[in-house]
Amino acid sequence: MEKRGYWKTRLGFYLAAIGSAVGLGNLWRFPYILSENGGGAFVVLYLLFALTVGLPLLVGELILGRTFRQGVVLSTESLQPIPIFGTRRWLSLKWVGRLSFLLSVVVLSYYAVISGWVLHFMTQFFFALFSPMTTSFDPSLDPLLTSGWMQMLLASVHILVTLVVVLKGVQDGIERWVGAMMPVFAVLLVSLVIKSLSLPSSGEALRFLFYPNFSQLSLSSFSHAIGHVLFTLSVGFGTMVTFGSYLKDSDAIASSGFRVTIVDTFLSLTAGLLIFPIALGAGSVELGATRTDPGLLFETLPRFLMSLPGGAFFGLAFFVCLYLSALGASLGLMEVIVSNALDWSKKKKWKVQRMEVVWTLGGLILLLSAIPAFSSVIFRASKNSKGFLEWLDAILINGCLPLVGLGLSLAISHGLSEMEKKRQFIDENKIETQALFPYWRWALKYFVPLVIIISLILQILNSI
Ligand code: PHE
Repeated sequence: MEKRGYWKTRLGFYLAAIGSAVGLGNLWRFPYILSENGGGAFVVLYLLFALTVGLPLLVGELILGRTFRQGVVLSTESLQPIPIFGTRRWLSLKWVGRLSFLLSVVVLSYYAVISGWVLHFMTQFFFALFSPMTTSFDPSLDPLLTSGWMQMLLASVHILVTLVVVLKGVQDGIERWVGAMMPVFAVLLVSLVIKSLSLPSSGEALRFLFYPNFSQLSLSSFSHAIGHVLFTLSVGFGTMVTFGSYLKDSDAIASSGFRVTIVDTFLSLTAGLLIFPIALGAGSVELGATRTDPGLLFETLPRFLMSLPGGAFFGLAFFVCLYLSALGASLGLMEVIVSNALDWSKKKKWKVQRMEVVWTLGGLILLLSAIPAFSSVIFRASKNSKGFLEWLDAILINGCLPLVGLGLSLAISHGLSEMEKKRQFIDENKIETQALFPYWRWALKYFVPLVIIISLILQILNSI
């Protein structure tokens, strides 16, 4: 049976955590959620919740993982049950971990389908660049949305790539590969942002992003912002619990969590700077009455890129950048799923190897991805205005994820002793962690649950 892995270097951990956090959430979901919720005002909500809800939870997950050196399923099983008020019964916190695990499995199955779309556009632009015969290619999602098999094929290529990396374990798998991918991703992103900001629509895009007009927010914007913050920081899925379980005792958790949050948030805003000048240039977002859908990234944007001089080159660069981010995030999800399953089999004393677990779970996720792949065909045929993926995404990320986040904040606050939390949070070399500890504890115990509950109530009020 294999021994539990560790990050080789602290930088390796940062890159893997940032690679997991930065993904389709930043480049695909953030722009369309932002335009649905009115631009600048939503950016303010998003920044506020990233620091006050996302960061405390992220630090909490890292602490939970390092305390028990296990994934979210067994870590929450090890927490002290909490007394149920007014009765002599105790509430076990293991359901939180199980729900969190389930969420990663379901999310990876549709994340793989969208990553497959990215692969499709990447190859299309590649051929457009190298074969003059196809320069007239018109980027469209139609060939994919009308063929479930095609989507399955692309998703299986993506899942296979993830499995091959995760198979190698923590250090030689995710740490090494994401470490190599992130610099390429950063260079591509910066070059694309420079290109995008040189477009005439960039002034308007900057205003749209950074000029808050609070009358554009709706009651549901709060839960959309919280759901998105958790999704983009990979919190609520147990990812950071697993990543924390690979941290050394000497690594400072609070500052690690802070850095990951800041970099991911900065990259979301950078993604906005990349996408909005292009989207506005292509006329897909009207200021004031903003409405874009997930098709923005897969139709409007590639079409516009193709119309620019050197468009095939920029298109290819854009989709390679997008694919690297999707791969880093999928690796994070897959690592969590595999590591939880390995912990579980160790507990049950089953003699299984990482390889067997990786292939079995990969097969299961591929089977599950048939649901989003084929449903999009059915929804398309029935001319349903809201696509299946959009609908699934909204339920999972705006509803289920905040609920799991709520469960985790309560579980970590009440199930882990004060002494343990203090021991994990306070770092002797960083004196400020002593002063910050009570704020973090307060935020996780009271502020995070309260804000999530209020946002869910507002969401319900909005829909009745
Ligand atoms: N944070 C990733 C993104 O923004 C998604 C993700 C969620 C990755 C959970 C890993 C775990 O795309």
